[in-house]
Amino acid sequence: MSILPIVMWPDPRLKRVCDEVGVIDGAVAQLVSDMFETMYAAPGRGLAAPQVGVMQRLFVMDATWKEGVKSPLVCINPEIKRLGDELSTNEEACLSIEGVAADVTRPNQVELTYTDLNGARAAMLLQGFEAICAQHEVDHLSGRVIFDHLDDTARAVLEIEYKAAVV
Ligand code: NI
Repeated sequence: MSILPIVMWPDPRLKRVCDEVGVIDGAVAQLVSDMFETMYAAPGRGLAAPQVGVMQRLFVMDATWKEGVKSPLVCINPEIKRLGDELSTNEEACLSIEGVAADVTRPNQVELTYTDLNGARAAMLLQGFEAICAQHEVDHLSGRVIFDHLDDTARAVLEIEYKAAVV
């Protein structure tokens, strides 16, 4: 296992659409294991492959470990099947945009299909914080980050804050 370097905004890799994962082999399993180690060390609750420079549709998350309960989840080739009608606004942070947080409004329920590490297609329904976290990670696979959910003014303010924080 190894901790991978995290790609930081505004690296162009964070703005690109990722490719589908093909065969789930030992290299994918190793990547997943390294991504978990990187995420827990950061410390974060979610990490998408482009954040470690791998332009493939895959993310790991664990929305509850900081509260003492581990719930690791690997989603390969995830697809959002349905979004709930109810919206909620939460402060979201991102390991690739350190030092700032944005108020992002999203549906607080999501139904996802994905492939697991055994190559089996699975489905799940996530609620609340887990649903928010999963949508944030799926966004990364489409080249979207928290800034892309803001209006022009809020985005400009946050980008200035971020530039000041990283200097
Ligand atoms: Ni992120």
